[in-house]
Amino acid sequence: MTQSRTALVTGASAGIGAAFAHVLAADGLDLVLVARRREKLQSLAQELTARHGVRVEVVSADLSDPGAPRSIIDSVHELGLQVDVLVNNAGSSGNTAFAETEWSALAAEIQVMVTAVTELAHLVVPGMKERGWGRVINLSSLAAFSPPGESLLYTGIKSYVLDVSQSLDMELKPFGVHVTAVCPGFTHSEFHETMGTSEAAAKLPKVLWQEADAVAREGWAAAQAGKAVCVTGRVNKVLSHVMRAVPYRVQYELGRTMNPLKD
Ligand SMILES: NC(=O)c1ccc[n+]([C@@H]2O[C@H](COP(=O)([O-])OP(=O)(O)OC[C@H]3O[C@@H](n4cnc5c(N)ncnc54)[C@H](OP(=O)(O)O)[C@@H]3O)[C@@H](O)[C@H]2O)c1
Repeated sequence: MTQSRTALVTGASAGIGAAFAHVLAADGLDLVLVARRREKLQSLAQELTARHGVRVEVVSADLSDPGAPRSIIDSVHELGLQVDVLVNNAGSSGNTAFAETEWSALAAEIQVMVTAVTELAHLVVPGMKERGWGRVINLSSLAAFSPPGESLLYTGIKSYVLDVSQSLDMELKPFGVHVTAVCPGFTHSEFHETMGTSEAAAKLPKVLWQEADAVAREGWAAAQAGKAVCVTGRVNKVLSHVMRAVPYRVQYELGRTMNPLKD
């Protein structure tokens, strides 16, 4: 990459987001790192600047706050930067029965992984279109191809991200702006710790797992190549094809009876 470009990565304090930050910095992009844990972002920023000589700014924000996307982009502009690459990565999954979960917790999931993802794209895409170049990477999941999981908003949310990313790519590609839905399967990160499923996840076969940096490398390569959908890892690619071929009634029963993360 010759000219200096800036990537905004949400959820950069851990896991796949931090891995994206490493991959993009190694490719010479300046960065804006977003998450709630400021200290984690600051130490990552120092490491990336020291290692790759790129400019790295930190914006601490809670994306479950409806005002966060606008205020993050305002901060980016105040820093004199524009977003050329947006990595909509922040997310986590609830793991409690729908009827017994407070609405505020469900609303926060939707706000972080649906509304903020869409609004951040809406805030930066006009500028990308005007400049004739941009990349938007939205973290979907292999879950978007899988049977829906009982009680989870997560599979529906990631299906939204998969579909909308493709719709936006169709609209924007002619203007030099590519949108890529990156769909990892089980990936080593803090995700299952946050979800409270570490124990069940640890029992899954090793072949189903990827490292976060492998996901980020493959996701960034797909975005550069203008792919609208990137299922990461060979095993996940095969699984995504197999699962799409399964009839809906069978998917429902599989989702109801075979959730690998439920005891
Ligand atoms: N790991 C997997 O198996 C897997 C598989 C498929 C897809 N994914 C998707 O990949 C993305 C990254 O997940 P991960 O595995 O890297 O999880 P992770 O290690 O738990 O990291 C999640 C990141 O999201 C940030 N985040 C969560 N809630 C936030 C909020 N309200 N406001 C701002 N930032 C928030 C966290 O930062 P703070 O806590 O500092 O705010 C953290 O940086 C997610 O969208 C996830 O759904 C993960």
